[in-house]
Amino acid sequence: MTNANGLKHLSDLDLIYSYLVNAGKLGDLEPANALRCALKCAHDAGVMIRNNVEGRALGSEVNLNTKSSVADLVTETDVAVEKCIRARISQTFPSHMFVGEETANGEISQSARSAGFVWIIDPIDGTTNFVHAFPIVTVSIALAYKDESVMGVVYNPLTDEAWFAWKGCGAYMKRACGSIVSIRTSTCTSVGSALISTGFGVAFLRRQTKAVSEQAKILEIVSQNVKVLMTGARDIRRIGSAACDMCYVAMGRTDSYFEFGVREWDIAAGLVILHEAGGESSTIRGATPYSIRGRNVLVADTNALRVELNSVLREDNIIELIEIVESN
Ligand code: IPD
Ligand code: CA
Repeated sequence: MTNANGLKHLSDLDLIYSYLVNAGKLGDLEPANALRCALKCAHDAGVMIRNNVEGRALGSEVNLNTKSSVADLVTETDVAVEKCIRARISQTFPSHMFVGEETANGEISQSARSAGFVWIIDPIDGTTNFVHAFPIVTVSIALAYKDESVMGVVYNPLTDEAWFAWKGCGAYMKRACGSIVSIRTSTCTSVGSALISTGFGVAFLRRQTKAVSEQAKILEIVSQNVKVLMTGARDIRRIGSAACDMCYVAMGRTDSYFEFGVREWDIAAGLVILHEAGGESSTIRGATPYSIRGRNVLVADTNALRVELNSVLREDNIIELIEIVESN
């Protein structure tokens, strides 16, 4: 499904709405209103991110801080983008709840989540890439209803590629040239012919903590999994943005992605895009369906591949180990 005229900007919205003709109202929410808001947020965030990267090419400095460890980065742009997105969402949907990595990552009660709408935002997913102007940097915007992702928009302003989905309406990609295409996962069924992306938990491993033996154990499990794939898979990629990892599986650029320690803002938007593109998800232990707060995710283009990975990847009790590291 291609638009011959092309879409110059993410804010050229009418065409995108036409892909949602089958979406029914959720409570009192019109899907097109939510998608319009998400796309405007992604577009404006993209302008801020691009301007910053281009400014640095001309000599300006990135304004950088660290969070939980020297490898857990935040910049002025992360915070500014989140504030901008949050302001637009709260103005448009004042009764909706908001979770964002930089300004609102506190707990919302389970009963509140089960009752209503929660916007789940990562203003920059791939902050390390952003700091290095490595061009895989995404804005990730999800809407959950009754604790399930129903809408996902992921936008990489440095490549001008966007992915979007509404539950039940399929998954789509806007290419840099402006055309919009329906996306499907590829059909790989075995690890031996799969291209697999992952992340290494560097932020946990570089944390100054008393939980040194837990960190050593995490390193051992992560390394063991990489070793298994180095000898068993077609190859491995480290993309640096979990939202992008999910979209690459959804569109068939890669066959699978797994990672320990992810948070809901990394995964929530990509998950609905992946499912709508026909992909499969679980925890690394194999619990299905993946819940957005699961903290360890395994996605694959086919169930056969997901099940094979589930049997070759070590999981041990890594989430418990990560929680000990996080609380020390
Ligand atoms: C990170 C990226 C990275 C993944 C980390 C995430 P951030 O998000 O998605 O690829 O490995 O787990 O925390 O910090 O760049 O928003
Ligand atoms: Ca982030």
